[in-house]
Amino acid sequence: MNNAELKEGFCKVFGTGGDIRGYFAPGRVNLIGEHLDYNRGHVFPCALNTGNYAVVRLRDDKKIHFFSANYPRLGILEGDVDALVKKNGSWTNYVEGVLFAIREKGYVVDRGFDCYIYGNIPGSGLSSSAAMEVVIGTMVKDFFGFDLTPIDIALCGQRAENGFIGMNCGIMDQFASAMGKTGKAIFLDTATLEYEYVPLELKGCKIIVANSNKPHSLVSSHYNERRQECERALQDLKKVVDIHNLCELTPEQFENAKSAIQDPVCLARAKHAVYEEERTKKAVLALRENDLVTFGTLLNESGDSLRYDYDATCPEIDALVEEARKQKGVYGSRETGGGWGGNTVSIVREENIADFRKNVSKAYKERTGLNCSIYELETGEGGRRIF
Ligand code: GLA
Repeated sequence: MNNAELKEGFCKVFGTGGDIRGYFAPGRVNLIGEHLDYNRGHVFPCALNTGNYAVVRLRDDKKIHFFSANYPRLGILEGDVDALVKKNGSWTNYVEGVLFAIREKGYVVDRGFDCYIYGNIPGSGLSSSAAMEVVIGTMVKDFFGFDLTPIDIALCGQRAENGFIGMNCGIMDQFASAMGKTGKAIFLDTATLEYEYVPLELKGCKIIVANSNKPHSLVSSHYNERRQECERALQDLKKVVDIHNLCELTPEQFENAKSAIQDPVCLARAKHAVYEEERTKKAVLALRENDLVTFGTLLNESGDSLRYDYDATCPEIDALVEEARKQKGVYGSRETGGGWGGNTVSIVREENIADFRKNVSKAYKERTGLNCSIYELETGEGGRRIF
């Protein structure tokens, strides 16, 4: 939908007139540095050129009227800025969660609004929830004139997840959605929020995203469990080394200290975090030097670690990664994002992309009965007002 169509969509549902504004925030793909943000390590995501759009007009009362162009049958849903309530499974939680977080910071949202949402992120697993949080944060900042930077907005999105929705995610997705830049990935230190933009120029190759189209449920409960396992490993390690977070340890320090970790499962989780941190730093270096062989190998190692040590994949993703790695011109392939479904990223030589699509789709269908969706990664800009 272009801007005129978005506005027309809004007006059809909520009527014309008044100060109607439009906003956009993108989804994200993470290249490497998986499950590191809550371990205070480095991550390397980029923003997509697809995301969530919000068209909004303030109301004179305190009501929120929500309408999603993606779920028109739900009709207009209602909320109230003075009574933010989590509703089971509703997409409106991401909107209300951000209002909750902004209010918690001491800002007063004293008017309700009509809110028309349209999302075009393909499939699940590319952070459409972070895109929703950032688009709403961007809208609230603009309409109410709050002094919030894009990083503050990202933090409010994370707070919405942690404090309102109950998903104990890190900052990566919201940061990428708020701060993304076309043609760049963000090398982000999640311990300090220092970041650098790294040009995504892969000479002769493209980054290919493949969606497993595996409906993933229970992601947040698995996810929260991994977070606790890392925390338990950290508590054990703290008895023998002076650290605050797992990602502070070098692999050597980890090898010397790891016998302090009681539970073998927690040990495997901590191993992933420590080695993934090292891989991520090396991968960024390799990309800067256009050493795609090293970059791809690190992606493979990351994927194997997610599969065997972090236990964050599923048979469908394993099949997709295995088939991708068999193809000609593939430097590396791995699961990306939270896990247990969702997407893979692969580095593929341009001349081999057509065969990659054909062969991987066919083999994946044969092995899982599912159709995957395969496309070239297109990056885009972070959250902003569009009209
Ligand atoms: C989800 C979370 C992020 C991050 C990734 C895994 O996308 O929202 O904070 O932890 O999983 O890297």
